[in-house]
Amino acid sequence: METTTAKLLDGKALAAKIHQQLQTQIHQLQAKVGRPPGLAVLMVGDNPASAAYVRNKEKACAKVGIASFGKHFPQETSQQELEAVIAELNEDARVDGILVQLPLPDHLDAVSLLHQIHPDKDADGLHPVNLGRLVRGESGLRSCTPAGVMHLLAEYNIPLRGKNAVVIGRSILVGKPMALMLLEADATVTVAHSRSQNLANITKNADIIIAAVGRPGLINADMVKQGAIVVDVGMNRVTDANGNSRLVGDVDLQSIAGVAEYFTPVPGGVGPMTVAILLQNTFTSYLRATS
Ligand SMILES: NC(=O)c1ccc[n+]([C@@H]2O[C@H](COP(=O)([O-])OP(=O)(O)OC[C@H]3O[C@@H](n4cnc5c(N)ncnc54)[C@H](OP(=O)(O)O)[C@@H]3O)[C@@H](O)[C@H]2O)c1
Repeated sequence: METTTAKLLDGKALAAKIHQQLQTQIHQLQAKVGRPPGLAVLMVGDNPASAAYVRNKEKACAKVGIASFGKHFPQETSQQELEAVIAELNEDARVDGILVQLPLPDHLDAVSLLHQIHPDKDADGLHPVNLGRLVRGESGLRSCTPAGVMHLLAEYNIPLRGKNAVVIGRSILVGKPMALMLLEADATVTVAHSRSQNLANITKNADIIIAAVGRPGLINADMVKQGAIVVDVGMNRVTDANGNSRLVGDVDLQSIAGVAEYFTPVPGGVGPMTVAILLQNTFTSYLRATS
């Protein structure tokens, strides 16, 4: 069998490039518009992973010149209190993007809160109006993670038209919008999930595999066609025998390295792209609000 050495789809580098472009554009526009773009990240409770994600997003905002209007609420905050804050932010002309960091404490209804965000300020691209626009192929704010994957594939000139793409996972956050975006790009799309039978048979036919499941080692070389493109959305924290914890994806990268043509690393692949698209969505809303 012919052997390849898989090449990196470098999400970290592309995200840095997008940050740089945004920083320049924001710098140029700010004086004319009279204010910077603004993003409000709402966090409830003290989940350490969420706190790290929020810090990361706010740091990225600061780097490109987006003002943060983030709010951190105590665990016992009520649905009504959060709804009132979202209503205020919807009206606040300094704020272009609003997002609620998940997961929320059990007593809160995340979907209902998402519905309260004005679709034009929906920086995560998850509001039903924006998902509906995606289904219809209309322009709108796109879900950050799948849009980040699409940007990464475009950056490396990966052809999608007529290609067999398999998306593993069907969540509303990643799998479903991912499948729709690939369809929009004229790929032939298959969506696999926990009830799919013989996953290897499905993935073996794929020119492009997008794994978005949350299971370390789910995809290995036996499931990947020679020369396929493998994108790993999964983010799993695992602890090795020495008690050291590290982040891994859904793909056994070592195993596929001799088979795939391109792959995304974890960390440094899809994760940084998700944040870059969040900033880009905020900037898109800013342009819309101020032009
Ligand atoms: N890099 C990033 O920026 C980023 C962003 C978001 C999420 N993530 C990561 O991506 C992963 C998926 O996130 P998510 O929010 O989409 O998760 P999710 O809501 O838990 O969805 C997981 C999906 O995987 C499917 N699945 C579970 N076991 C399977 C199996 N053995 N074979 C095939 N499919 C299987 C599930 O099928 P059913 O529908 O049948 O249950 C479900 O559709 C997680 O690791 C998450 O941390 C990363």
